[in-house]
Amino acid sequence: MEDYRELNRASWDDRAAAHAGSPDYRVEELIADPEALSHVVTFDAPRLGDLHGVNGVHLQSHIGTDTLSLTRLGARMTGVDLSPASLAQARRIAERAGVGIPYVESEVYAASEVLNGATFDLVYTGVGALCWLPSISRWAATVAALLAPGGRLFIREGHPMMWSLDEERADGVLAVRYPYFETEEAVVFDDGGTYVQTDQTFAHNRTHTWNHGLGEIITALNAAGLTLTMFVEHETAPWNALPGQMERVGGDEWRLIDRPERVAMTYTLQAVKAG
Ligand SMILES: C[S@@+](CC[C@H](N)C(=O)[O-])C[C@H]1O[C@@H](n2cnc3c(N)ncnc32)[C@H](O)[C@@H]1O
Repeated sequence: MEDYRELNRASWDDRAAAHAGSPDYRVEELIADPEALSHVVTFDAPRLGDLHGVNGVHLQSHIGTDTLSLTRLGARMTGVDLSPASLAQARRIAERAGVGIPYVESEVYAASEVLNGATFDLVYTGVGALCWLPSISRWAATVAALLAPGGRLFIREGHPMMWSLDEERADGVLAVRYPYFETEEAVVFDDGGTYVQTDQTFAHNRTHTWNHGLGEIITALNAAGLTLTMFVEHETAPWNALPGQMERVGGDEWRLIDRPERVAMTYTLQAVKAG
């Protein structure tokens, strides 16, 4: 039987250096300009508010461009990721930027244990994270364990409706292809590419992914003791999620060319743990 963590880790390890070298992650610009922010955190900044004095953990921090950006908004951040090669890139980027960020190797569900029960004011998660996790209720319990009383979760994520759409459809029809709800069985991909511009080719391409419906996400957070404080749906995503059907609309946001009001591409959710 395939272990989803091993397969997914190999795929992310394979892609980490290519991502760090791709113009889409803007690593050299982020290192050169101490005020620069990643596109993802630039989009989030008005909803994140002032982070000065905030002690945060970034789950699934990948190569750390968003983690670094959160420190530039004033937070003290710790990054957590499954992929050692991603963490190595993140450490190198933080060091070159002259910022001290602890990066810890851990599978999401083990994060609280690996961080020795530490708690935080902020749990931050960026786009393209929940789809790698089989159980949304285990994720919500992990978030709750990592939050101090009164702490908040901030997540902008791909909308489950968007994840359910057929990304290979060539006739412009938005067609539902994949599950909307969480399923026991993974949706398995064999995809030799990645979501950024790169000339690199990859050897580890098989991944296991899951979708989680909005109701499942909100119910799981409520059951874990978190209260929803913000839920906003967006017409844009920070990558070309449906190739051939989307156009870049500023920064690194992409929107459907034809009637973008038809479907939400991403959402921002905030929730707080009781004080
Ligand atoms: C698309 S990145 C998300 C981060 C952010 N949007 C970015 O682009 O930098 C997904 C990250 O999730 C990590 N990941 C996947 N499954 C994981 C798991 N079970 N536990 C911890 N990290 C995981 C991968 O290693 C990868 O670095």
